[in-house]
Amino acid sequence: MDNGFLWGVATSAFQLEGSPYADWTSWDSILSEKPNVTNHYALYKEDLNLLKDLGVNSYRFSIEWSRIQPREHIWDDASLAHYQEIIDILLQNNIEPMVTIHHFTHPLWFIKKYPWHKEASVEKFMNFAEKVVSRLKGVRYWITFNEPYVLLLGGYLEGCMPPGIRDPALAIKALQNILICHAKTYDFIHGKAMDSGTAANVSVAHNMAALAPWSRYNPLDRLLSKIAKYFYNHSLLDAFLTGVLKIKFPFRNEISVPVPIKGKLDFFGVNYYTRLHIRFNPFKKMGVELRNRDIDGYGLTDMGWEIHPRGLEKVLRYASKLHIPLIITENGIATRDGQKKIKYMKRHIDAVEKSIKDGIDVRGYYYWSLIDNYEWLQGLDARFGLYRVDFDTLKRQPTNAAAYYSYIIKTREAWSAERQTPTQGRNL
Ligand code: BGC
Repeated sequence: MDNGFLWGVATSAFQLEGSPYADWTSWDSILSEKPNVTNHYALYKEDLNLLKDLGVNSYRFSIEWSRIQPREHIWDDASLAHYQEIIDILLQNNIEPMVTIHHFTHPLWFIKKYPWHKEASVEKFMNFAEKVVSRLKGVRYWITFNEPYVLLLGGYLEGCMPPGIRDPALAIKALQNILICHAKTYDFIHGKAMDSGTAANVSVAHNMAALAPWSRYNPLDRLLSKIAKYFYNHSLLDAFLTGVLKIKFPFRNEISVPVPIKGKLDFFGVNYYTRLHIRFNPFKKMGVELRNRDIDGYGLTDMGWEIHPRGLEKVLRYASKLHIPLIITENGIATRDGQKKIKYMKRHIDAVEKSIKDGIDVRGYYYWSLIDNYEWLQGLDARFGLYRVDFDTLKRQPTNAAAYYSYIIKTREAWSAERQTPTQGRNL
């Protein structure tokens, strides 16, 4: 893996461009009004120019499976060529592409016939993953799955994301199949890289949150927060270390599931946004209630999320027990207030700097997101972009935070030069 620090922005295809063939398209009625969202699929050149204006040296983006394989037996080579063109433009501009193969959406046929809890999902996903990895040239950084746990919680426990199931047993089966796909894709990418003599750096992007008991004095709040912390932040890390996924839901026995992912990571992608406060509530599912609170006085985001930069240091420290390089694959704020966006960014990047100084091996930071986009459960109101999008005219306008990010990149690029071979992070 290169030694230079990756300064980037992250996006996902569906959130920018929609897709007529994706499961989410019929899931959320707002998409019938704006099926092309920001119309990035047509305006990609204009948007890629924004990366040059920002001065980033990397760009994380995803490819939309449902465009590439709109029907089970139909492959659309033009869309693969489209994503290859994006890669080529990035490379011509010395911007390192980081490609996410799966970012929440599926072709409708897949989720209907082969949802993740079914065994056949593995073969169907692998057909797609192998096609993409064989076809796309010039990619050295891959994310197999974005936030497998969020997909699980949304799709299989809360039921608020496709396939809209609420069943813990099926959730575990689905997670197992997803992790089998991660392992197979990891091996396939490395096999291809070996054949062509190129480098390959493969990871997942794991959503990690700071988690705290609502009341430190309530033993049940404390217990639940401990269980949640282990499940949400640690269990996947441990599975990469041991090949066994240990799941414990509140008030149920622990389950151990074998997963073939031991050591199948070249770096670890951390998505970090906020802290959640956990409270025992017998009327909620599994007795767990999650709340946001403004404890540090930095305020809440437009989505009501607590701004808690110290949490980023904490999750980086947890993740450092993997003893591999860490990359912050997403961090950002939904707000219409440019100054608030700047402060959020600065405080979190300061937290990264502090972690590096403390010896944690962090190799990159990707701000979420380049431009305003479709936010899964919030529609078009969550303004994460460094560039604001007017969803009627589709005009992109820089926020103050865009210039600020460029300034950060220029003034802190010394990080990469200064960084010695970092000492590994401390074990927890
Ligand atoms: C996801 C993004 C999402 C962002 C903000 C992350 O969990 O990867 O797709 O837009 O959070 O909610």
